[in-house]
Amino acid sequence: MQRIPEPELMLDEAQAKAYAEADFEAPHTRVIELFRESFPDWSGSGDVLDLGCGPGDISLRFAAAYPRCRVDGIDGSEAMMAAGRARIEHAGLADRVHLHKALLPADRAPMPRYDAVISNSLLHHLHDPQVLWTAVKRYAAPGAPVFVVDLLRPRSREQALAMRDRYAAGEPAVLQEDFYNSLCAAFTLDEIGEQLREAGLEGFAVRAVSDRHCVIHGRGR
Ligand SMILES: C[S@@+](CC[C@H](N)C(=O)[O-])C[C@H]1O[C@@H](n2cnc3c(N)ncnc32)[C@H](O)[C@@H]1O
Repeated sequence: MQRIPEPELMLDEAQAKAYAEADFEAPHTRVIELFRESFPDWSGSGDVLDLGCGPGDISLRFAAAYPRCRVDGIDGSEAMMAAGRARIEHAGLADRVHLHKALLPADRAPMPRYDAVISNSLLHHLHDPQVLWTAVKRYAAPGAPVFVVDLLRPRSREQALAMRDRYAAGEPAVLQEDFYNSLCAAFTLDEIGEQLREAGLEGFAVRAVSDRHCVIHGRGR
């Protein structure tokens, strides 16, 4: 099926609250494990940029997994970040995890370069996927790990509906709809490979890690 883009920013407060309260324990734990598997030798220290951080759950988990790093999350939606700030405080990580409002590509991250750049579930939101790859090239210091996780688009709407029913059946209606729309807005492995070639990031590896997720990883130049 053709890609069906969804709105880039998650500005709706009810949607942001439902997203921030959703249980992402299993998939987000897996994201951190996949980072470790992709970069087993990374020092774990320095400044990390989390692109499209939303409520900051990945930023938080990353900071907890790597106690010597500091994370700047950036997102264009204040509603999404506001929904997650209390958890960062509660986790005692407010000194190492900071969420900043920044709309890509117009706004800048707080620092010019980072020692690692990560992103989970931003790519499928972007109307122009090069916005992500341009940010990666701009912000990843030479040799810095770059790690992107996103959804993969199913072959048909029927398959997307079946995935929604299989993986999101217990979630609130707003999240079920969100998941279906996100699957329809996601890219295929071939499309991501093409985006990387266009961006001059041919050295990056793209792989499926489940029936609905992919990982793209490489190093800054
Ligand atoms: C599905 S959420 C993912 C949030 C978080 N990374 C996570 O894994 O929980 C996608 C986020 O990307 C943000 N976003 C979308 N387009 C953006 C843009 N152009 N600039 C900055 N943030 C953007 C949305 O506002 C939303 O919070």
